[in-house]
Amino acid sequence: MGTDESKKLLKVLGGERFERPPVWMMRQAGRHLPEYLELRSRAKNFLDFCYTPSMAAEATLQPIRRYGMDGAILFADILLVLDAMGLDVKFEKGVGPLVEQVTGPADLDRVPAVKAADRLSPVYETVSRVRDGLPAQTTLIGFAGSPWTVSLYAIEGRGKTDKSDAWRWAHGRPQELAAVMDKVAEATVEYLARQVEAGAEALMLFDSWAEGLPDNIFREVIIAPTKKLVTGLRARGVTVPVIGFPRGAGVMLEPYAKETGVTAVGLDTAAVPSFVNSVLPPDMPVQGHLDPLLLIEGGPRMEARVRELMAAYSGRPHIFNLGHGVRPETPIVNVERVLKILREG
Ligand code: CP3
Repeated sequence: MGTDESKKLLKVLGGERFERPPVWMMRQAGRHLPEYLELRSRAKNFLDFCYTPSMAAEATLQPIRRYGMDGAILFADILLVLDAMGLDVKFEKGVGPLVEQVTGPADLDRVPAVKAADRLSPVYETVSRVRDGLPAQTTLIGFAGSPWTVSLYAIEGRGKTDKSDAWRWAHGRPQELAAVMDKVAEATVEYLARQVEAGAEALMLFDSWAEGLPDNIFREVIIAPTKKLVTGLRARGVTVPVIGFPRGAGVMLEPYAKETGVTAVGLDTAAVPSFVNSVLPPDMPVQGHLDPLLLIEGGPRMEARVRELMAAYSGRPHIFNLGHGVRPETPIVNVERVLKILREG
């Protein structure tokens, strides 16, 4: 059991166990914080916000100041890489992201991978500013979207719909889909490597659209491309831990954890602790997975669930987190209550 609390989150990713798990929350920087809303109102639009290091660094640090989280997640977005690759990306209020649709892999040949990574230099500037401003005990997490999830936005022009074009490509145009994902992955390797060079101490891969895929397709679009990405990072000299988050993977979590080369897995809201513990290697770190909707409700059921999750993963390296992002309507007092239970019981 670890006792030295500095960089506790990084230590858990290195395999240490703590009686009280380190904690951070996906989307901890965002619309549930009044200080974020104030900062956000000063930016022209969301992309500009992400590309302005003084603002993005401030947004990253806000939840650290307010809550003392063990992890700071870089303030950016998984779709920046598509913007850097030359696709038109917009964030529409009330609609979500809109991306210029690709019709084939050639549409991603406009900007070579290294050039795309160069275009994201404001993000690396944000990373280094955050590192300078972070308390010594806090771990800085860089991130990107996984090839499937990012490619899905490029193919659909938006998030997934019921008649998903990306899923149809997976069945009907598998080679073209693989080529699109390869191009995204190539730019992503360079992008993540530079985040690490700028000071990111761990990386997270968001695969937000991994849910509900047929198992053969899950292997082709989630496991194989993630493995390639992780292998590419290691070949590029990146040694920091990588947290993979295949949201909604269900039983496919086991092959994902065993075959992709990720250091740790992020667990989603529907993860079942007994299943997770029975299929994952006992020393593999896990991160998760309080329901963000329960965090809105609060009260005794939330408190009981926090204790239940803590106990469920006490036998393995565990980072406490949510099963998906903090929602804008989340009461700050509920976040504080969770933190108090984790820290004091
Ligand atoms: O605190 C953090 O987690 C840091 C930064 C972060 C953002 N997006 C900022 C953001 C991270 C890690 C992401 C990842 C991301 N972006 C994912 C993967 C995680 C997930 O939620 O499944 C996805 C799918 C995206 C794409 C995206 N960006 C969507 C679908 C939306 C619109 C939905 C929404 O919540 O508004 C965004 C916009 C976005 N990204 C916001 C933030 C804080 C809201 C924009 C605003 O404040 O105006």
